[in-house]
Amino acid sequence: MSKPKVLVARAIFPETIARLEAHFEVESNQTDAAWSKADFIARMQGKQGVFTTGTERIDGELLDACPELKICANMAVGYNNFDVDAMTAHGVLGTNAPDVLTETTADFGFALLMATARRIAESEHFLRAGQWTKWAYDMFSGSDIHGSTLGIIGMGRIGQGIAKRGAHGFGMKVIYHNRSRLDASQEAECKASYVSKEELLKTADHVVLVVPYSPASHHTIGAAEIALMKPTATLINIARGGIVDDAALAVALRERRIAAAGLDVFEGEPKVHPDLLTVSNVVLTPHIASATVPTRRAMADLATDNLIGFLTQGKALTPVNP
Ligand code: DGY
Repeated sequence: MSKPKVLVARAIFPETIARLEAHFEVESNQTDAAWSKADFIARMQGKQGVFTTGTERIDGELLDACPELKICANMAVGYNNFDVDAMTAHGVLGTNAPDVLTETTADFGFALLMATARRIAESEHFLRAGQWTKWAYDMFSGSDIHGSTLGIIGMGRIGQGIAKRGAHGFGMKVIYHNRSRLDASQEAECKASYVSKEELLKTADHVVLVVPYSPASHHTIGAAEIALMKPTATLINIARGGIVDDAALAVALRERRIAAAGLDVFEGEPKVHPDLLTVSNVVLTPHIASATVPTRRAMADLATDNLIGFLTQGKALTPVNP
């Protein structure tokens, strides 16, 4: 019997390719060539499965053109690159990679918060540029983390991980806003109190965004929301580009309406709004919150397990549209 055919859309660990090749006829993009939509569709012909990384759009146009496709396995917890309704309508399963990246991503969220609040990137640039000639009482004074109020918007697994780090590690008061309230035991574990979005924005010293992207969460933070924040507050986005109105944020940072921002994700990434590149009070990282070697391996393994499980036994581990 011939093996099912699988396309790997981006470069990935050679070990992942080897695991897939044990079960499938694999075509892969190990050179990480930038495929146009037409290239992608052409390569998808005859494939039953595709290994995606979160950057490849799976929509009605592609699904119409690929009638043999059965599963798209995303190596990411977020799956806003999937048009889930179109996939369901075409009988195509989508899977994501939850849990395996939770702690790593929460670590990064906290690291970005600390780098932003304590002006680590900005002061490092200053030092490298040879501008450090003397000590000064007000040089790169930032805001405190310990004892401050941490506001988390989006209290899923990663949000809860950040809450625990803040409450237990740094004695922060944690408030959160989420579509639904956590149960009492989860709130106790995170030492977190539920508040309205407005109250969170008005009272938090550090606001961390961890909501999934959807049309409903588009521009969760825009000019009006930023206007509610304290002038001393920091804003951290490790969720998705589009959750923040980057143009409005750049204006607010330039005008010091908030103290600083830390951004790992951007509207239209890998492009970054040019105005963000010209303000000093923002820390910018290229969507690396889950990027540790063990975690990226675990994410690749889970996407691979989903392809193998579904195409060989009809069972995926982490379906998003079961
Ligand atoms: C995810 O898993 O959604 C992260 O953003 C990494 O892509």
